[in-house]
Amino acid sequence: MFPPGPRGYPILGVLPNLRANPIRTFLDAADRYGDLVHLKAGPYHGYLASDPADIRHVLHDNARNYHKSPLYDRLRDSLGNGLLTSEDAFWLRQRRLAQPAFHRQRLTAMADAMVDCTEETLERWDGVAARGETIDLVEEMMALTQTIIVRTMFSTDLGATAEIVNRTWPIINRRIGETFWSTKLETRLPLPANRRFWRALGELEAVVYRIIADRRRTRRDEADLLSMFLSARDEDTGETMTDRQLRNEVMTMLLAGHETTSLALSWTYYLLAQHPEIERSVAGEAERAAGGGRLSFAHLDRLAGTRRVIEESLRLYPPAWGFSRQAVADDEIGGYRVRRGSLVFLIPFVIHRRPGLWPDPERFDPDRFTPDREAARPRFAYIPFGGGPRGCIGNQFAMVEAQLIVAAVARRYRIALVPGQTVRPEPLITLRPSPGIRARLEKRSASP
Ligand code: HEM
Repeated sequence: MFPPGPRGYPILGVLPNLRANPIRTFLDAADRYGDLVHLKAGPYHGYLASDPADIRHVLHDNARNYHKSPLYDRLRDSLGNGLLTSEDAFWLRQRRLAQPAFHRQRLTAMADAMVDCTEETLERWDGVAARGETIDLVEEMMALTQTIIVRTMFSTDLGATAEIVNRTWPIINRRIGETFWSTKLETRLPLPANRRFWRALGELEAVVYRIIADRRRTRRDEADLLSMFLSARDEDTGETMTDRQLRNEVMTMLLAGHETTSLALSWTYYLLAQHPEIERSVAGEAERAAGGGRLSFAHLDRLAGTRRVIEESLRLYPPAWGFSRQAVADDEIGGYRVRRGSLVFLIPFVIHRRPGLWPDPERFDPDRFTPDREAARPRFAYIPFGGGPRGCIGNQFAMVEAQLIVAAVARRYRIALVPGQTVRPEPLITLRPSPGIRARLEKRSASP
């Protein structure tokens, strides 16, 4: 009746394993039992799906039958009912509202803002390098991608409140990660960890409400995402979005739009630092594409090798390392009957390491993403941005941003890891390099 899978503990199934070490649990399950594994997790029957055909079925072909699973409830506690967490007609309306902000034409203009922000960071780094100081790459990338998302989507700068976002989001992210598998009650009790979470959320929310209030007051139309949301009217009722709804969407974009990209960049530098020959080729490509001139959207076609490096980094360390769905009605996956209410786990960290799809999976090899090799792989073998109608709205945005940043940095600096540190992937909502990545900036001799 069920596909093979570990028995786990009575009643709890593999829940304790998932709580203690989710990535190891999923990896072991796929290694041992194959492409479709039955995992009993507390009250739920779960399926770990790693065959691209099954993934396609759930995310694309029969996507209507799969809602975001109850594991997203924790995310809802902070993001509310926004684009990432909502369903059906409400989600579709919001997605259609937001989509124009990501069109190619808009991306071209946003690329300039991305380059501006990167140049500002590089100028500051010149001082850091001259003083021989080290940096925490994760913190640096977090700050950079945050400035970019706020400028491009909300046409503003956080100024002093950036500190609040930087301080509160890690607390929120950690608590959501810790309580993914907890009961609602555990997250409602006035425990010190919950109190810290609520306090952080309140502070972050205040920043978001300020962005909205500022725009309302000035009534500027910036043709950005925030203006699109502010001017949107319900087709039937003519009503505009409430402050609460705006808060949910702004919070979603602020967080989904910077955290993941910053981690993708951090992991990319981590890998490049360990593969000097590939790092040199990235620097050479950037140099050939733009010389000493300013990078722009127009250079992206000439940064194909850089793109492959980022794609390979997203394969090995997918920032959205795992997500899940819940069947709305009975269905069939891979020849097995799946009852309504069952969970389906889609774990890029595992899928991207299936030896049948990715030979020698632990090896960092950007050439896996040459057009020929890509064409030879099933589409859903690679899902760092999810897929189907609920796939990432910021996919292109993130790739443009990452390509421009990696190229701009590579022209000026070689990033060297401070020796002796241990960095391990920590699976919170996103896959963070823990405890951070300490690095030294080595100026390239030919750079300005
Ligand atoms: C490397 C960077 C990024 C990665 C790895 C990533 C990954 C993902 C994934 C896997 C999903 C699907 C989640 C699911 O199916 O439950 C998703 C959805 C989403 N992402 Fe991204 N993302 C990235 C960058 C961005 C950026 C830059 C933005 C915004 C500017 C963004 C906004 C969103 C939103 C709003 C959704 C929900 C879409 C919907 O359900 O309609 N993401 N992302």
